[in-house]
Amino acid sequence: MHKVIFDTDPGIDDAMALLFLERHPDIELLGITSVFGNASADTTTRNAQFLKREFGIKAPVARGADVTFDPGRPMASWPTFVHGVNGLGDIDVPETIEDVPLDPRPAFQFIIDTVREHPGEVEIVAVGRMTNLAMALARDPEIAGLVKQVVVMGGAFDTNGNVTPAAEANIHGDPEAADVVFTAPWKVVIIGLDVTLQTVMTRTMMKDLALRGGPAVELLARISDPYIDFYSQQVEEGMVVHDSCACAYVVAPELFGLRSGSVRVVCGGVADGLTLQKPAGRAFGPSPWDDKTEQKVAMTIEAEKVVDLIAATLAP
Ligand code: BDR
Ligand code: CA
Repeated sequence: MHKVIFDTDPGIDDAMALLFLERHPDIELLGITSVFGNASADTTTRNAQFLKREFGIKAPVARGADVTFDPGRPMASWPTFVHGVNGLGDIDVPETIEDVPLDPRPAFQFIIDTVREHPGEVEIVAVGRMTNLAMALARDPEIAGLVKQVVVMGGAFDTNGNVTPAAEANIHGDPEAADVVFTAPWKVVIIGLDVTLQTVMTRTMMKDLALRGGPAVELLARISDPYIDFYSQQVEEGMVVHDSCACAYVVAPELFGLRSGSVRVVCGGVADGLTLQKPAGRAFGPSPWDDKTEQKVAMTIEAEKVVDLIAATLAP
């Protein structure tokens, strides 16, 4: 059984990923930690509480960071044109979800405590800014040796970003935090735009899933409608299921081809948030990539099989 902490900024594709984690029989969801990103931390935390209730999830929600790891960094604006003003496609969501209390701890502390309760077992799936993880490492560096793996949706390696030509949203929103997470002595697998952009759930598939997956998937289909409109301008008619790809990796790593090598994030300047890997075994001059942990970056994906796995898990 995979014991997973889901670090997320819900977010429409985050909502799908959350339901995937909840419904996959080989996954035990230990907790949901929120972070700013697709909307403010107030909104993403409220959305996590809302989704917990609507999806019938038992795992607790812990509120996470509302500002970047480096307090001097100016905050980017929310991508309301992607996820809506409320992060969930602007469907009606109550302002507060009083019947779903938050865990009393901040997200970084929840992560530390949960990792220490299950040494060597916890897999963190991080699909928003890396701020909570960087804070947890800063507070308790020893957790790096106690986590089984960190699976990240973020970055763009041999392709362009989606916020700037250089940078993908989750990394661009807090590059310093991502650099801390990628260079820490733990195992990180990065599922970036190189592969996620190939995973498209069409509107027809969503409609069909909604008929078979019950009220939770109906809700997903409703919030996804404007997201599908947004992505249909860029890819085929449908939505890119970025965050579910990271969840799919946990249970089906064989569907991904990985490249090894240390990863750094450009912090500042014209390429702010650019992710760059030094492929293992290639000779370079001395560089800031030297002596950093070799991480894995997904370069290939069996996209159709990943989309099928997501669909079969949402509506078994
Ligand atoms: C990432 O950014 C967010 O908009 C999505 O939820 C996903 O995590 C894709 O770049
Ligand atoms: Ca996300």
